[in-house]
Amino acid sequence: MDLSLKDKIAVVGGASQGIGYAIAHLLASEGATVAMVARKQEPLQEACNRITQETGAITFAIPADIRKAADCENITRAALERFGKIDLLINNDGAPPLGEIQSFDDIAWHKAVEQNLMSVVRLTRGALPSMQKNGWGRIVNITALSAIQPIARFGLSVATWAGVIGYSKTLSLEIANQGITINTICPGRIATGRLGTVFGTGTPGQIDQNQLAQMTQQIPMGRIGEPDEIAGLVAFLCSPWAGYISGSVQHVDGGRHASLI
Ligand SMILES: NC(=O)c1ccc[n+]([C@@H]2O[C@H](COP(=O)([O-])OP(=O)(O)OC[C@H]3O[C@@H](n4cnc5c(N)ncnc54)[C@H](OP(=O)(O)O)[C@@H]3O)[C@@H](O)[C@H]2O)c1
Repeated sequence: MDLSLKDKIAVVGGASQGIGYAIAHLLASEGATVAMVARKQEPLQEACNRITQETGAITFAIPADIRKAADCENITRAALERFGKIDLLINNDGAPPLGEIQSFDDIAWHKAVEQNLMSVVRLTRGALPSMQKNGWGRIVNITALSAIQPIARFGLSVATWAGVIGYSKTLSLEIANQGITINTICPGRIATGRLGTVFGTGTPGQIDQNQLAQMTQQIPMGRIGEPDEIAGLVAFLCSPWAGYISGSVQHVDGGRHASLI
């Protein structure tokens, strides 16, 4: 299947590792030019170099912290200055801290809203005019299964990503006749460095294997997902084949989501 991404310009968040890296790599393999975002410059540049080497695609590092309004503006401005347009925007990055929802003060809530919700609002605001001018665009948000099937201690992400789903569904209605789609993916457990944050023992880089095994048993497919299994859906949603899908929420979770829809 040709995904027709050859002349497309993509902006991919959290692209130095994990899910974002897999997305950037796959879009580049399909011929897209990819502007890649993360905070730490060195690993980001290394990731760009690796993708260019392996795919031949043009990549462009934009070091930025998506929790900051000015950085969000810079991301879309830098991509537009360099490439003249943005066709694909993939909203993906880290996540706020875990903990009991009542334990967080206003500062923690404010940071979570900036990180998970306002980054999507701001980056979309920056990319949308270019998509509208060209009458074509794709926006894909990466959230988590917990946004539709909440988990204790994930409350900051649950509440703010629920806001992303509401924002995206509303926007999808308002841009429905402009050739632009916006969809949200909710990954279940995926094999990235983030598993160390969620199932860490407290020692950096060390995972609590018992907790991990218990959690894996709750996944009907009996395994953790791979970043490429998220990237594949992103690439499809970015293609013309997905032109009639907008405002949707897709769970990619080895069958773990426990309801009919
Ligand atoms: N892995 C899972 O099981 C799983 C499941 C469900 C949902 N998710 C969600 O999917 C997203 C990606 O997860 P992942 O597993 O790929 O995580 P990861 O391996 O930890 O990668 C996170 C990426 O985001 C960048 N990043 C983090 N905070 C940022 C910020 N404030 N501004 C800009 N870039 C930032 C990181 O680079 P820098 O540190 O250099 O900024 C890195 O490139 C996260 O939102 C995560 O919560 C993951």
